[in-house]
Amino acid sequence: MQYAIETSAITKNFDEITAVNKISITVKPGELFGLLGPNGAGKTTLINMLSTMIEPSGGSAFVWGHNIVKEADYVRQNIGVVFQDTTLDDRLTGRENLDLHGRLYGLDGKTRKDRIKEVLSLVELTERADAIVKTYSGGMMRRLEIARGLMHHPHVLFLDEPTLGLDPQTRLHIWDYIKLLNKEEGVTIMLTTHYMEEADKLCDRIAIIDHGEIVALDTPQVLKNMLGGDVITLELEKPGDIEKLCGTYQKNGCANFVSKKENEVFITVKNGEREIPHVLALASGAGIPITSVSLRKPTLDDVFIHYTGRAIRDKEVSEMEEVGYKMRSRRK
Ligand SMILES: Nc1ncnc2c1ncn2[C@@H]1O[C@H](COP(=O)(O)OP(=O)(O)OP(=O)(O)O)[C@@H](O)[C@H]1O
Ligand SMILES: [Mg+2]
Repeated sequence: MQYAIETSAITKNFDEITAVNKISITVKPGELFGLLGPNGAGKTTLINMLSTMIEPSGGSAFVWGHNIVKEADYVRQNIGVVFQDTTLDDRLTGRENLDLHGRLYGLDGKTRKDRIKEVLSLVELTERADAIVKTYSGGMMRRLEIARGLMHHPHVLFLDEPTLGLDPQTRLHIWDYIKLLNKEEGVTIMLTTHYMEEADKLCDRIAIIDHGEIVALDTPQVLKNMLGGDVITLELEKPGDIEKLCGTYQKNGCANFVSKKENEVFITVKNGEREIPHVLALASGAGIPITSVSLRKPTLDDVFIHYTGRAIRDKEVSEMEEVGYKMRSRRK
């Protein structure tokens, strides 16, 4: 087996909607691979197909060497999944949730007991193991789910939005576990995320996915370098001027790339320090007031805007966060 995950033109249609459109990717054993994309991009649908929850409408895929349709049972034996919405039973204790999972996977009593101890310690939940899950914080529930996904020593772990709705400190904590699993236990991980920083910090390679298609795929560094040079950010006094300013820069061909978000314009140039006076002169010549200007290296945000023509909509991310991980789990 050469790849941990291999897809060929995998596709999923829901009536009129093509949620995943002919995606072909390969993930090597031991890789930490990220799917980065906005709401509705098709991330969960791709994970659901690879984890055998739903069948593709077209194309094929192999996970740990097994066909996801014809050898679904073998695939399941080799994978762990942490779904976007929690599937814990909050009336059971943490330990009981893990034990139930071990039983479903046919682990014997002694193996279950030993493995529960190991995975609880890994996610630092040993002390709260015998409390019912209803009393856990959102971050603790997420850690318990990761522990549960690891119970049967999977080769490949799918993590769908592992830190959605968690506070920044808890998010960092979860990143540490994910890195530990990947580096020390050698688990191949495919994760989805909305968070640029998460993808940047954690992943060996990232696929940017939009409208069911991969629009860019490489290491975070190569993706950022692709834009070349520096990014000048200009804040406009009047957001209504944004199109005019972008047009001015495009017409003058002064930048590799021009993009916008709310009342800011981003210009990628070879030599930022030298270009700032020229860029400001063009704005002033067009009669467009600028309130601030700054210079930085490209981020994954810029890469995302470059390939999709828009930002991952902050509004939608915060709306999802408002609903909150814990709330969603309660409803279930
Ligand atoms: N069971 C379903 N029936 C009909 N349409 C679906 C179904 N599941 C997903 N879709 C649609 O497929 C598209 C991709 O959805 P998916 O959940 O895969 O996106 P996502 O990238 O995971 O989004 P999010 O970031 O919001 O989790 C969306 O347009 C969604 O409405
Ligand atoms: Mg999703």
